[in-house]
Amino acid sequence: MKTKIERVSSSPAPEKKTNIQAAPPPLTPTYQKLKELRKKNKAALNNSGKEQIRGSCLTARERLNLLLDPGSFTELDRFIIHRSSYFDMQKKQIPGDGVITGYGKINRRKVFVYSQDFTVFGGSMSRTQANKILKIMNLALKNGAPIIGLKDSGGARIQEGVAALGGYGDIMRLNVRLSGVVPQISAIMGPCAGGAVYSPALADFIFMVDNSSYMFLTGPEVIKAVTHEEISKEDLGGAKTHTEKSGIAHFACQNDKQCLMMIRTLLSFLPDNNLDDPFHQESKDPVERRSEILNQIIPDQPKKPYDMKAVIKEVIDDSFFLELKEKFAPNIITGFARLNGHSVGIVANQPQVLAGCINIAASQKAARFIRLCDCFNIPIISFVDVPGFLPGTDQEHGAVISHGAKLLYAYAEASVPKITLITRKAYGGAYIVMGSKHLGGDLNFAYPSAEIAVMGAEGAVNIIARKQIKQASDPEKERIKQTKKYEMIFNNPYRAAELGYIDAVIEPSQTREHIIGALEILQNKREKMAEKKHGNIPL
Ligand code: HXC
Repeated sequence: MKTKIERVSSSPAPEKKTNIQAAPPPLTPTYQKLKELRKKNKAALNNSGKEQIRGSCLTARERLNLLLDPGSFTELDRFIIHRSSYFDMQKKQIPGDGVITGYGKINRRKVFVYSQDFTVFGGSMSRTQANKILKIMNLALKNGAPIIGLKDSGGARIQEGVAALGGYGDIMRLNVRLSGVVPQISAIMGPCAGGAVYSPALADFIFMVDNSSYMFLTGPEVIKAVTHEEISKEDLGGAKTHTEKSGIAHFACQNDKQCLMMIRTLLSFLPDNNLDDPFHQESKDPVERRSEILNQIIPDQPKKPYDMKAVIKEVIDDSFFLELKEKFAPNIITGFARLNGHSVGIVANQPQVLAGCINIAASQKAARFIRLCDCFNIPIISFVDVPGFLPGTDQEHGAVISHGAKLLYAYAEASVPKITLITRKAYGGAYIVMGSKHLGGDLNFAYPSAEIAVMGAEGAVNIIARKQIKQASDPEKERIKQTKKYEMIFNNPYRAAELGYIDAVIEPSQTREHIIGALEILQNKREKMAEKKHGNIPL
C-alpha cells in the first residue's frame, strides 16, 4: 500500500543539442526584449517548487502533452503570480501559481484545459489560481467547447484563508452555469479533499487513477478523531471505492497515461456543446449486418440469466462499447456506443445481476446518464429485461420511491430520440420506467420472447387465482393450469402490440438494422417542453 505519492517537477524535457552554430544576433533593443521574453518563458517553464522523486505520476505539463494533440497547446497566464502576503508568502512567488491553463485540440477539436501542479504549493487553490481557472471556464462557456480539469491539489491554499475559499465557490458556481452547455470532465490525479470535491462532483464525468488519486470530504485523521474508525486514504476515497461503492466516479484508470487516453476516447462520443450534434465517425460496420447469435441468445427458461452486454455488442458498430460506472450498480448498464457512426447512449438492464431488478443505485446511475445524454443531444437506446423494482426494507426505507421517480422523470423529460427494445421481461412499474411508450418512447420494439405484463405468472396466479387453487380437488394441478393460462395471455409482446405500445415485434437477428433505421427516421426529431423555469425533479 502506497502512502505517499511520488511526484516529479514540472520542468520540460531538455532541448536537443545541435551542431549548427547560429551567428550571434545583433544586440538591438528589439532583440533585447525578445531575449527577456525567452528568459521569462524559460523561468516559468522551470517553475516547479522543488524537485521530487520520479514516480508513477506524470507532471502537470506531461499530462497536458499526452492529453492534447501534439503541438496544439497554447498556454495562458503563464506569468501570473499570487498577491498574498500572510505568512511571508510575498517572498514565495512562482509564475503560474500552481496551475497550467490554456486551450488545445483533441482529435482536432478544440478544448479548454487546466492542470494543477502539485510541485507548486501542493497545487493548492489560491485566489489567483481560481481566477486562472475561472478565465478558462468562461472561455469554454462563451466558445462552446469542453472543459477538462486535471486535478492534483492539497485544497484551498491555507495561507490565503477565505480568499482561497471564495475562489472555490466562484468555480463551483460557474460549474453549475456550464452544466448542460459544454461537457465538463474532471480527472482526479492526486489529492482532492474537503470542499474541493464539489467542483468535480458537479462535472459530467469523473476519472480517477488507481493508487494515486483520492477524494473525500473529511480525511482519515478527522474520521479517526470523530468516529474512531480507522481507514486508509485509498479505502476511504480511492479510485476503487468511488467506482464500486459510492458510484461518484465514472472510470478507474490504471495510471495517468491510461486516464488521459480514456478522456480522448470519451470526447469522441460527445458534441462540443449543447447546440451541436455529437461527433460523427464514419463506420465500416454494415448497417444490414445480421446476427444469428441474437436469435438464440435469450434463454428458453424465463429465470435463466444471460449477458445483456453480449446483446449490446452484437448490435453496435464494431462491438465498441464505452461503459460508464461499470462496477457500480451493475444491474443496470450505461455507456456510449456508435450506430452507423452516430453516437448513442445505451441504458440496459443486466439479467446477470439481481435478475436485472432496478434498485436505488441503478435508478440514480441511469437517471443521471439519461439527463447527460439529453443535455448533449445523444439519442437513448434502452435494452429492457426487467422483472421489477428490487423488493426489500432497505430499498423502501432508503427512498427507492424517490430514486425510482428520478429515473422515470429523466426518461419522461428527455427530448432526444428514444428507442426501446424489450428482449424479455418488462413487468409492472419497471416496464413503464424503462423507456416505455408512455414516457415518450419514440419507437418501441420487442423480441418475440418479450413478456410485457403487470407481473410474472407465478406471482399473478397467487393473487388472481388464489381461491380457485385453494378450492380445487388437486390444487397443484389447478395452479399449473392457471399459470399456463396467464402465460398464454401475457407472456408475449402481442397484447402490448395490439394496443400500439410496441411499434414492431422484430426478429432478434435484425436488431441492428431496425435500430439504425429508427435512428435515421428520428434524426430531425424536435420536441419542446412547455415554457417553465425548470422542473422539480425528485432529487
Ligand atoms: C498550502 C499546501 C497545501 C495547502 C499542501 N501544501 N497542501 N500549501 N495549502 N492546502 C504544500 C505543503 O505545505 C508542502 O509544501 C507541499 O504542498 C507538498 O505537501 P506535502 O504535505 O509534503 O505532500 P504529501 O505528503 O504528498 O501530502 C499531500 C496532502 C497534504 C495529503 C495533500 O499536503 C495535506 O494534507 N495538505 C492539506 C490538505 C487540506 O487539509 N487542505 C484543505 C482542505 S479544505 P513544502 O513547501 O513543504 O514543499 C479545503 C476547503 C475547500 O480545501 C473549500 C471549498 C469550498
